[in-house]
Amino acid sequence: MGSSSTEDVAGEVVVVTGAAQGIGRAVALEFAARGAKVAVVDLQAEAARAVVTEIEAAGGTAIAVGCDVADHESVNAAAADIAERLGTIGVLVSNAGVTRPAMIRKMTYEQWHQVVDVHLNASFYWLKAVVEGMIERGRGRMIFTSSSTAQNGSIGQVNYAAAKSGILGLVRTAARELGRYNILVNAVAPAAVTDMTRKVLTDPKFGADPSRTILGRYAEPEELAPTYVFLAGEASSLITGQIISVDGGGMFVR
Ligand SMILES: NC(=O)c1ccc[n+]([C@@H]2O[C@H](COP(=O)([O-])OP(=O)(O)OC[C@H]3O[C@@H](n4cnc5c(N)ncnc54)[C@H](O)[C@@H]3O)[C@@H](O)[C@H]2O)c1
Repeated sequence: MGSSSTEDVAGEVVVVTGAAQGIGRAVALEFAARGAKVAVVDLQAEAARAVVTEIEAAGGTAIAVGCDVADHESVNAAAADIAERLGTIGVLVSNAGVTRPAMIRKMTYEQWHQVVDVHLNASFYWLKAVVEGMIERGRGRMIFTSSSTAQNGSIGQVNYAAAKSGILGLVRTAARELGRYNILVNAVAPAAVTDMTRKVLTDPKFGADPSRTILGRYAEPEELAPTYVFLAGEASSLITGQIISVDGGGMFVR
């Protein structure tokens, strides 16, 4: 058993979706710094290539893969491409996301479907795309992305909160089904200042008040990334079916 998470993920093939920016980018950089071979998957292919350039400049190994996670054919093609170029996928970080906020009375069916597709349906597509390789290998780690909104709800985000709750059902069920194959499945509920949240977290008009979190501040994505590495390594070998909040105590407002 490895005692250091650095050794644990070295040489592992790690897929990070939505890795062109924000939390996904920070997670991709962290895995690469620990010696993993990282697939930087994103709709923004150019920005994904820039992350790969950054990783390579630091001496790491990564490839950029353009993919629309809301389309299962695109996901399957990306997964096959990654397996061919890097080897069997050992770690999945399903992180890509969008928001399409509107109050229930104004929300369109399109807004509903877009968000459910990119978060919940994409999680299932990636689960299917990586599971056979992990079973054959006898080891796998899947990390899906939920949100505190799964528990709390969020005004103007019924689509997002519902999708993030759905991911918890997916995670708990996948953990039950796949434990026998040494595949661990968990969810992270992150909070950090990114393009997705900057406005809401910094504009007092939205009630943003970091002093109400337990730590009294919001995080940058880099601070979250080590938790994902922990969940991919041997130090977390007994953790499965869980939702881990990495949000500076944001769930517990003062
Ligand atoms: N930032 C937070 O505080 C916070 C809080 C709770 C949950 N989350 C979740 O964390 C994850 C990352 O969020 P972030 O804040 O880094 O957001 P972000 O907007 O900075 O990054 C999201 C990335 O996903 C990519 N993406 C969007 N749709 C895609 C698609 N169809 N196919 C492929 N890639 C696609 C985008 O191009 C972008 O690079 C999301 O799942 C989000 O819901 C974030």
